[in-house]
Amino acid sequence: MALTTTGTETHDLFSGDFWTDPHPAYAALRTEEPVRELALPDGKAWLISRYADVRAAFVDPRLSKDWRWTLPADQREGQPAAPIPMMILMDPPDHTRLRKLVGRSFTVRRMNDLQPRVEEITQELLDALPAEGPVDLMRQYAFLVPVLVICELLGVPAEDRDMFSAWSSVMVDDSPQEEKFAAMGSLNGYLAELIERKRTEPDDALLSGLLAVSDADGDRLSAEELVAMATLLLIAGHETTVNLIGNGVLALLTHPEQRARLQADPSLITSAVEEFLRFESPVSNAPMRFASEDVEYSGVTIPAGSTVMLGLAAANRDPEWLEDPERLDITRDSSSGVFFGHGIHFCLGAQLARTEGRVAIGKLIAQRPDLALAVDPSELVYRESTLVRGLSRLPVTPGE
Ligand code: HEM
Repeated sequence: MALTTTGTETHDLFSGDFWTDPHPAYAALRTEEPVRELALPDGKAWLISRYADVRAAFVDPRLSKDWRWTLPADQREGQPAAPIPMMILMDPPDHTRLRKLVGRSFTVRRMNDLQPRVEEITQELLDALPAEGPVDLMRQYAFLVPVLVICELLGVPAEDRDMFSAWSSVMVDDSPQEEKFAAMGSLNGYLAELIERKRTEPDDALLSGLLAVSDADGDRLSAEELVAMATLLLIAGHETTVNLIGNGVLALLTHPEQRARLQADPSLITSAVEEFLRFESPVSNAPMRFASEDVEYSGVTIPAGSTVMLGLAAANRDPEWLEDPERLDITRDSSSGVFFGHGIHFCLGAQLARTEGRVAIGKLIAQRPDLALAVDPSELVYRESTLVRGLSRLPVTPGE
């Protein structure tokens, strides 16, 4: 991998061997160029890679979600602040308003109530895995757990779930861009219709909850905001959790001594999931921020108007924060890792994601003791994404 320091030139990190194993490149950046401008497939962005800097940058109000900072001052007027009304693309006060409204329905109690369903959904998928392989664990397990859980959470009727997961799969797999847009269009249309149906036939699920919420001033989510929120929950809750499950299972298959410890003491699943999130962070780099003015980290100035990525995968292996970070240790306390973000955009679904990870990985390891990789680890292929870290396929022999 070419990791040459070229001074002012943007540096082409995201290519070649990087996708197989990005960690040597992240380690080199962290020590040599902890704040660095990089070439992306569609533009460029500064990557902040040290743990302490990443934590500080998450709460730095000069690093805004408003893309208009990338435009010259005289061209900002008249442009919408967010291309779609999704809170993850917004700054306060717009973000605060949407987060508060959704927070009224996305409660700890609702998440706790969902746990038995997560267990049932996972068990059904597990029972359907044949003993003989090879099967692609991504497609037949890791992908389906979060999709079916989101259907349950939102209140997507059982008969629509296959259609819903087909659109979701196109949105996250390596399908051509036009197919992704078409799937997104169909999904938006479907959600808009479903929301209308929930107005007349409310149930106990989240969409009905979101339709009903209003704050003390009577403020509510508009129909367009509701569709955007449902889409955000689907994408944010699914592109990520699929990779927590895939990366976690692979980490155990390639570290037999860690797997043996978990098999001997299933209660280790709680700390194990934190460690999987740290060791192979499903969101490798947090969604973009934009510098509203010049900002300085580790002695480097990022100019106003720049696009900035917060390097979660790099930060989570920073030896300044954690001892021996390249080692997988499911017994250690990794819970202060930055895998769910930090500050006002901290992951809304962190509790649900942890539950899904514990149930899906814990049950699989307990119930399929002969589970084995069906290919050599060197043959595994990862998705070429600068935002998420995950396998394209995970061929395994499930065993009895
Ligand atoms: C935000 C990671 C699962 C919903 C975030 C952020 C990260 C993250 C890093 C911060 C983004 C930023 O600051 O720009 C993850 C990981 C997951 C996961 C690693 C699984 C392992 C979920 C689930 C849901 C969810 C299951 C919902 C069902 C959200 C939402 C936001 C968010 C709505 C935006 C919050 C805001 O803008 O205030 N997530 N997430 N996530 N996540 Fe998650």
